[in-house]
Amino acid sequence: MKNKKMTALLAGIFMVGVSLLLILMSAGQWPSQARAKVTPGTATVSPPIPAMVSAKADNGVVKTDWKAPDQEAAKLRANEEVPFVETFIDECLLCRQQKLRDQGLSTKDIPNTYFLLDSPIIKKQEDHYKPVRFMHAKHAAEANDCAVCHHYRPTDPEALETTRCSACHQESFKKDHPERLGLKAAYHLQCMKCHQDMNKGPVDCIGCHAKNVPDHKELVKLPANPAPEQVTNECLRCHQEAGEDMLTTAHWLWKGPSPNTMEHRKEVRHGKGTDVFNNY
Ligand code: HEC
Ligand code: HEC
Ligand code: HEC
Ligand code: HEC
Ligand code: HEC
Repeated sequence: MKNKKMTALLAGIFMVGVSLLLILMSAGQWPSQARAKVTPGTATVSPPIPAMVSAKADNGVVKTDWKAPDQEAAKLRANEEVPFVETFIDECLLCRQQKLRDQGLSTKDIPNTYFLLDSPIIKKQEDHYKPVRFMHAKHAAEANDCAVCHHYRPTDPEALETTRCSACHQESFKKDHPERLGLKAAYHLQCMKCHQDMNKGPVDCIGCHAKNVPDHKELVKLPANPAPEQVTNECLRCHQEAGEDMLTTAHWLWKGPSPNTMEHRKEVRHGKGTDVFNNY
């Protein structure tokens, strides 16, 4: 039936439009072969979702107004393997705060105003997100207290009073130190707790790190001039769940006209939910 074929084709084109829009928003790249097929205006343009806007930012790192002073040096620092510290001085927070004040520690003692947190220890376990930007000097100035974060020091008298977290917090469930929190948990607990308590700073996942979305130019395999269904099929090869979620949305179930249309509220004429065929 000609009519069925037409609607199937239209539905197909619509799906390609939505797919390409998604790719553009998330990875910031178009799959080169599929581009030829898309007709502008086939996809409904909704306001961008914050998650996807963030994922598009420079270097894949979540963007704010703040600019990193030296991204390359920070990357090198992030990859340093820090020797593990076995023993620490257990002192109460108030005692430590007083001690660091007496020592006159201040933002002048901050050699690195900025850290990119991208630990090789954590990456070995999981790598779902891009590195986290941490504005060290800005935080130290805001907190006006080094001890809230640098809560312990190593026993070794030669060690820095404000030793890196990653010296004491490394793998979770370290065999000889099961009481020692892993680095990811140490960061998450300290960073998010303070943001929550102060009601300032991000507590949502993408406020600190963008999703690590792989380059889809490498992933998507399509022939030179793919049919709309081929593109959808290719996405579904990996995104089965997203495909099933889509079936519960208006993209799949739409019926026209909108029930909000004045004087036509009760009329439901055409749409995928009634008489239009879904090819995919
Ligand atoms: C206040 C900032 C902050 C927030 C909010 C935050 N994280 Fe993180 N997250 C970090 C830091 C810092 C690291 C460690 C980065 C490193 O050194 O690799 C990290 C690492 C991770 C890692 C391991 C590294 C990776 O790439 O897989 C996962 C998984 C993760 N976070 C998930 C989440 C989830 C899920 C949420 C939201 C519920 C969240 N985070 C919210 C700061 C944050
Ligand atoms: C909001 C939390 C926070 C505050 C406040 C803070 N720091 Fe830090 N500091 C960090 C984090 C996180 C790191 C990086 C940890 C890592 O790499 O494991 C760091 C690293 C450092 C390092 C590098 C240590 C090394 O071994 O290379 C120095 C030095 C330092 N801080 C000094 C200070 C001083 C001095 C103050 C107070 C004026 C201060 N910090 C306040 C969180 C903080
Ligand atoms: C000299 C070692 C050492 C350094 C450096 C260190 N920690 Fe810890 N941290 C510990 C030990 C030991 C514990 C567990 C025992 C305890 O809390 O009494 C701990 C516990 C924690 C906890 C659990 C809650 C709490 O406050 O007790 C968090 C969160 C934490 N650390 C985050 C950090 C962060 C973030 C940094 C860097 C800014 C850091 N730690 C630096 C040794 C250290
Ligand atoms: C002592 C409290 C405290 C801790 C601990 C803390 N933060 Fe924050 N953070 C703040 C405050 C306050 C702000 C808001 C600063 C502002 O609005 O200028 C903030 C803002 C931020 C922002 C947004 C900055 C911007 O310019 O938009 C990021 C990202 C961030 N924090 C990451 C982290 C990470 C990662 C950690 C843990 C390593 C951390 N914070 C630990 C208090 C804290
Ligand atoms: C070979 C496997 C593969 C294929 C084919 C593929 N993707 Fe992906 N895609 C991934 C992986 C892996 C991720 C990152 C993990 C995740 O978010 O699920 C991802 C992430 C995404 C994201 C970001 C999701 C988020 O939560 O931020 C979008 C959007 C996306 N893919 C769209 C598409 C579209 C559209 C197609 C078809 C043109 C496609 N993908 C084909 C594997 C694939």
